[in-house]
Formats: sequence, C-alpha cells, structure tokens
Amino acid sequence: MNGTKKITEGIYWIGGSDRRLERFENLFPIPEGVSYNSYFIDDEKTAIFDTADISVSDQFMENVMACLDGKKLDYLVVLHMEPDHCSLISALVGVFPDVTVVGNAKTFTIMEQFFPEAKGFNKLEVKEGDTLSTGAHNFKFITAPMVHWPEVLMAYDEKTKALFSADAFGTFGALDGRIFADEYDYEKDFLDSSRRYYANIVGKYGMQVQAVLKKAAGLDIQMLLSLHGPVWRKDIAWLLEKYQKWSTYEPETDDVLLVYGSLYGHTKSAADAVASMLCEKSDKKVKVCDVSGTDVSYLIGEVWRCKKIVLMCPTYNNGIYPPMESFLHDMAALGVQNRIFALAQNGTWAPVTVKLMTEKLSLLKNVTIIEESLTIKSAVHKTDTESLEIFADAIARA
Ligand code: FEO
Repeated sequence: MNGTKKITEGIYWIGGSDRRLERFENLFPIPEGVSYNSYFIDDEKTAIFDTADISVSDQFMENVMACLDGKKLDYLVVLHMEPDHCSLISALVGVFPDVTVVGNAKTFTIMEQFFPEAKGFNKLEVKEGDTLSTGAHNFKFITAPMVHWPEVLMAYDEKTKALFSADAFGTFGALDGRIFADEYDYEKDFLDSSRRYYANIVGKYGMQVQAVLKKAAGLDIQMLLSLHGPVWRKDIAWLLEKYQKWSTYEPETDDVLLVYGSLYGHTKSAADAVASMLCEKSDKKVKVCDVSGTDVSYLIGEVWRCKKIVLMCPTYNNGIYPPMESFLHDMAALGVQNRIFALAQNGTWAPVTVKLMTEKLSLLKNVTIIEESLTIKSAVHKTDTESLEIFADAIARA
C-alpha cells in the first residue's frame, strides 16, 4: 500500500518504519522501532534523496513508483552511505538505469566498496557549495564529515528553506502515522530516544556537529528533514538548542545519574540509600540504574542528560565489575566531558574500584571527581549511615 506523505509543495516522504529490528546497527536496542526516511522531489526533474534500509524495501519501491506515476527518475542524491540508507541504491539504479547518482568523491568511493557495479553508474560529483537544480527547487550542498560518516552531505533547498540533514536531528522510534514532529508530544514521545540516538551515534563527534551547526546558523531553515524520525517544521530552535548542548558536552539538566553494579544486592542497598539521602539533601532529580540490567546505550543517553554521575561498583577479580567497566569504556570512547563524578566501592576483602575507576575517568576531559568516596565492606549496616550521609552530602554540595 502506497505510504507516501506530502511534506510541502514538491517534497514527499517515501520512507518506511521498522518495528521488528531488535538492535540498530545490531548494537542498540530499539523497542520503539526506527524510521528510514527518504524524500521524493516532484519537479521538472525528479529526484530522490537517499534510499532506505533493505527491511523496508517493498514499501520504499512502492512509494517510489506511486510518486513517479509513470515519470522517469532523473536524480538519486546520496547524502549518506551507511547501509540503513544506501542498501537499495543498486536495486533502484537497476530499475532506473539512466538515473544520475549525485554525491561527493567520498560518497562514490564508499559506494563502489558496497556496490562494485556503481563504477558503471551515471554520476554527478558535487562538493561544498555546489548546487543542483531540479527546476523550481535549487539544492545547495553542505559537507558534514563525521556526522556520522566521512562522506556525509546535507542539502539546503533554497525554495522551501528545507535542510535535508542526513542523520543529524534524527531519532530512534518508528513513525505512528504522523510525519511532523509537531504532530507528536515530542518531549514525551521522542526526546529520550533522540538523545540516546545522538549520544551513541554521533556523541563522539561533537566538534564536527559544532562545525555543521555553525554552517546552519547562516541559513534560514524552515524545515529539518532527517533520515530518521519526524520532520521538523516548527520550534526548530528548540532542537538546535538541544544539539548545541549535546555537541558541546554540556549537561542538559542538573539531575543526578546513579549507576550501580551489585552481585547480591548489597551495593544496590547502598545505592538506594544514597539516592534517598540525595533527594532529601537537594532538589535535583536522581535516576538510579542497575548497570547489569540497563543496556549501556541507555546509560550513555542519561550521561548526556545529567550533570552529576555517581558510580557504585563492586570489586570483581581484583578489578572493576565487568558491566561497569563496559560503561566506563563507552564513556571514554564517546568522549564524555564536563561532568562531576562521585565514586563508591564495595569489596569483601580488597575493595579497589574507586582507584581503578578514577584512573579510567582521568582519561575524560573536564571532569571533576568528588574527593569524598564511599567504601562498603560486603554489606551495608546501621554503622555505615554516617559514611553514606557524608558521601551524599558531598554529591549534593558539588
Ligand atoms: Fe542512519 Fe549513519 O545512518
């Protein structure tokens, strides 16, 4: 069934939503699903901006045929060569062998790696500032390297003032029949997914996102057309402000994230006590997560949201409890900055995780590690109340 959506005069959404994929990139759980957006330009010349993931191939091809309605396809513009968007390029060119494929030099290098047959495609190579006219629409290309791969392009339509932004400004989450962000309660329906998507997919590339935001500041943007999630046509400044914070690693809120590991419930007991004391001592919200039961991508999303991060970790094989080590590794890999950490350890004979976590966190830029740490020996007892209070006080004060 044709599932196209009109975005504005001459621009149609022709993507699809996947609600069956368990993990995006076979890595990040997406119980909320994901949309793969593709856009059709109905003008003197026809154009498609990016294909879609192979999981929605039938829907995508049906949408393409419905929009073309017997016309030929003139251009396939490839803004991003990750397979969630490029996997149908060869199939589409197979149906429209005369189509001109538009991309930059890196686009075509990667395209030929995925599709050796791309050597024979009709190609138009563009670079920063080049334009492509389809008639009424005139698209200006903007390079956006590492947002999220090196070849990424964005395109600004001078007629509609729409920015085709590739992965940027996207989100996890399938579309529920509506296409515009303002048709949802975005904060409730998408913000957590959007932050988790940003932090895990492009969190490492804050500098490159900043470079793109600077370019965007010079444009009159009336619409944001990402490759994932709903299209923005209102309150664009709100989302740009989020990206400004996320890409400069500034916490979005003053909230506290408390992540604990616990083999038998004793460190959990200490974590619950600290959370309770923190709520009494401060007006900041505390989010408590079990590091073993929370996929690390959610923890990373919360790191981007929260200012203070409390890590409470048992000693395991004279080292850091493995799921906590994985979380610390991801924070370092994604370049987390500008956070305040508080550390607690539990150990029955030789607790060492405050020292070991301090060493790991020292690899991060602009982080403060609160001097007062907490040590639990095996289990929490009434006699630990004072040290728990001192620890909670130090976090509340920091
Ligand atoms: Fe949605 Fe980097 O691909």
